[in-house]
Amino acid sequence: MITMAKAIFAPQYFSIMDTMQMTSAEAIKLEDQYGAHNYHPLPVVLDEGEGVYVWDVEGKKYYDFLSAYSAVNQGHCHPRIVGAMVEQAQKLTLTSRAFYNSKLGEYEQYMSEYFGFDKMLPMNTGAEAVETAIKLARKYGYEKQGVAENQAKIIVANGNFHGRTTTIISFSDDEDARKNFGPYTEGFVSIPYNDLDALENALQEEGVVAFMVEPIQGEAGVNTPDDGYLQGAIDLCHANNALFIADEVQTGIARTGDLIACNHENVKPDMLILGKAISGGVYPVSAVLARDEIMNVIKPGQHGSTFGGNPVAAAVAMAALDVVRDENLADNARYLGDIFRAEMSKLAQETDLVDSVRGRGLLNAVLINDTPDSSTAWDLCVAMKENGLLAKPTHGNIIRFAPPLVMTEEQLMDCVSIIRETILNYSK
Ligand SMILES: Cc1ncc(COP(=O)(O)O)c(C=O)c1O
Repeated sequence: MITMAKAIFAPQYFSIMDTMQMTSAEAIKLEDQYGAHNYHPLPVVLDEGEGVYVWDVEGKKYYDFLSAYSAVNQGHCHPRIVGAMVEQAQKLTLTSRAFYNSKLGEYEQYMSEYFGFDKMLPMNTGAEAVETAIKLARKYGYEKQGVAENQAKIIVANGNFHGRTTTIISFSDDEDARKNFGPYTEGFVSIPYNDLDALENALQEEGVVAFMVEPIQGEAGVNTPDDGYLQGAIDLCHANNALFIADEVQTGIARTGDLIACNHENVKPDMLILGKAISGGVYPVSAVLARDEIMNVIKPGQHGSTFGGNPVAAAVAMAALDVVRDENLADNARYLGDIFRAEMSKLAQETDLVDSVRGRGLLNAVLINDTPDSSTAWDLCVAMKENGLLAKPTHGNIIRFAPPLVMTEEQLMDCVSIIRETILNYSK
């Protein structure tokens, strides 16, 4: 099928490409042979997407219950977002920051007002935005908090996932993410998640400039802290002259039933890190937002990115965030999330295979009752795939369920049936 975007751009190329459709087996073989083996995908080869649905190369239709790790909150190929991208791409794509461009200022104002901060710093991937926040926090520490040169420390939580750069994996406690990638970057103190006493103790250490935390730990298995944790954490940070940095790359943009997860506790972080769904999964866009006093420590030449803040990213992000607001995606995530957890709790009563469900809005995880090193969660995901629903295990025997937020109640109930049937018919 030739999509509109393809046809507008270069129909002469796409008519040839579209006749060269390969099978799933062939596509998997190619990735296996020519690609680095740094992922272990479910054996499905996707070719098209629209809203909550994706299709494989053989034309089989699936519900997407992962949303590219919460990047596709607005649904696949949302026409308003794709339209904004095509329109901007035909006008101006990249200038670098050596020059001003006609979209960036408008985008920076839009983002600052949308999220309620003074300024933003645009980057591309989540990990880059995390690195940006780390640099800002350290520099703020030296220049505004009087921390001795090279002594800055940032507190992080056990089980964190903030990305894949060498600095970020230095403070991960996931052996797969870290082992044999040393030497590691210094200046991080790791404490248990959801533990305010541990935070209070760590804040007493010399040189602490900030606490960086995910409001819900997505990759660790949708670890959802106690109510009051975020409020307690920001209060402790401020009482101890440290910044509170929220990494909402996965939890942000309506995923948990509010624009950002910190809103559930009316917490306004000193720095907010966003990525993934800022663009609706259409283009890599990330950002750090902060007040002037923090952002102004960065001067020309001290940080940047060739692509960060490019006109296409700016146009795409504004369209994607318009969609979040105009389609009330936060309300829908909250409403459907309550139904999903209620249905999964019922299922846990019916079968020993399901231990429990946890999460917020449409970021949820079902804990499977088996040892962490068993393949049960993986096998269940393969079985769900056969039944037309795509989800993926995260750590051990935990299945993350995170559909696009444009899902309807009827579609959700259809998905609940698929999950129920698959789990109830599963035998080890
Ligand atoms: C909380 C959090 N921070 C940062 C990242 C890294 O984002 P990216 O993969 O775009 O670098 C992720 C990715 O899953 C994430 O969940």
